[in-house]
Amino acid sequence: MPIIQGSRQKQGMPAIEMNPADAKAVATYVRSVMETIGVQGMPPSVGRPAPNIVVGNATAGQTYFAAKCGSCHSATGDLKGIATRIADPKALQNVWVAGGDRGRRGTPASSARIPTVTVTLPTGEKAEGQLIRIDDFLVTVGLPDATERTFRRNGDVPKVEVHDPMKAHRDLLSVYADKDMHDVTAYLVTLK
Ligand code: HEC
Repeated sequence: MPIIQGSRQKQGMPAIEMNPADAKAVATYVRSVMETIGVQGMPPSVGRPAPNIVVGNATAGQTYFAAKCGSCHSATGDLKGIATRIADPKALQNVWVAGGDRGRRGTPASSARIPTVTVTLPTGEKAEGQLIRIDDFLVTVGLPDATERTFRRNGDVPKVEVHDPMKAHRDLLSVYADKDMHDVTAYLVTLK
């Protein structure tokens, strides 16, 4: 922490403004990385077990899960056995924190995750399908017959309604505290 706060200014590292809690988190992270560094030429963490990431409180995690995740998921339904399916706690944590796909590289996104869009023209004509691309000026829809259609956007015309199943995950990302993340992962790990 003194290093972050400026004890190495003479050597060229400026003081970095950071509250003590964040500075402590950064220090913990740096230590955890250094812990996995092996001898030169050796892959990281050979000969040393990876640090255990299951540090939370599973009971608190269960309470959090019931409040924030229970509207879409259930421990006895879709997430039953998730800790058996994804046995590595770190991979399991990535799956829910990173919003899924980034935690499982190489696996195509399941259809339950693909954003869809409905475009309604002033004439009442509708185009509905997979959202391929959207910005302020254009929206491209992947139609069920595998063709694509692009519409020019001008403010609210045509009307564009996006449905993104993973939006909740991305929105939650800015809501979790570190403790929530640790607790929820500790709970999910018990869903064998
Ligand atoms: C608004 C709905 C919604 C909320 C709220 C939500 N999720 Fe999800 N979650 C989804 C959808 C949709 C998927 C993708 C499902 C799929 O791919 O089959 C998903 C995927 C997942 C997966 C991966 C499941 C698998 O089978 O690979 C995990 C784990 C998960 N969510 C955990 C959580 C946790 C923990 C929370 C609360 C902190 C949460 N979710 C909140 C909708 C939601």
